[in-house]
Amino acid sequence: RQSAPADFAAIPLEFFQDYPEPGVNFIDVGCVFDNPHHWQLAVDALTECTAHLDADFLLAMDARGFMLAGALAYRRGIGFAMARKPGKLPGEAIAIDYRREYGSATIEIQPERIKGNRVLIVDDVLATGGTIEAAATLLRRVGKDVVGAAALFDVAFFKDKRDLTMPVVTLRDV
Ligand code: PRP
Ligand code: MG
Repeated sequence: RQSAPADFAAIPLEFFQDYPEPGVNFIDVGCVFDNPHHWQLAVDALTECTAHLDADFLLAMDARGFMLAGALAYRRGIGFAMARKPGKLPGEAIAIDYRREYGSATIEIQPERIKGNRVLIVDDVLATGGTIEAAATLLRRVGKDVVGAAALFDVAFFKDKRDLTMPVVTLRDV
């Protein structure tokens, strides 16, 4: 058997052309979740490829990052918190507005839920990098170290257009 990253790189993917707007070829990450073997390869590969990142806590990005962060946290035996779209978190939350592939967005975290100091951000897809950079800004604002970000897919079109402030691990270009 090859390594999990190599096996993951070979699974079939499903794209939707011109979704959610003309010109975008949308990777439907649901095609990784609906096949138990592919899902196991994804989690195994993500676990292997992020093992060198010394995190004691994960931040899961709303919404498609949740499943991956949950699985990775379980594998590592560490906790995780949810970064959420606005108006979903009770108690004290801090927010940041940012620009992304399709327009602007807002993300929030509950500082009290970040129970570690060295945080790895987890999402499904890296495009402009706006989402993970916004999350990193919030984490740093409350004194956390951002050890990196991890995602299954890397939208190649944006690769040379990003200015990322953290190490990033992605498993497959799309
Ligand atoms: C998508 C994707 C990443 C982000 C990547 O999320 O899941 O979180 O965009 O784009 P970026 O690198 O340009 O920030 P989206 O907010 O579309 O929706 P979701 O709630 O389905 O995850
Ligand atoms: Mg998302």
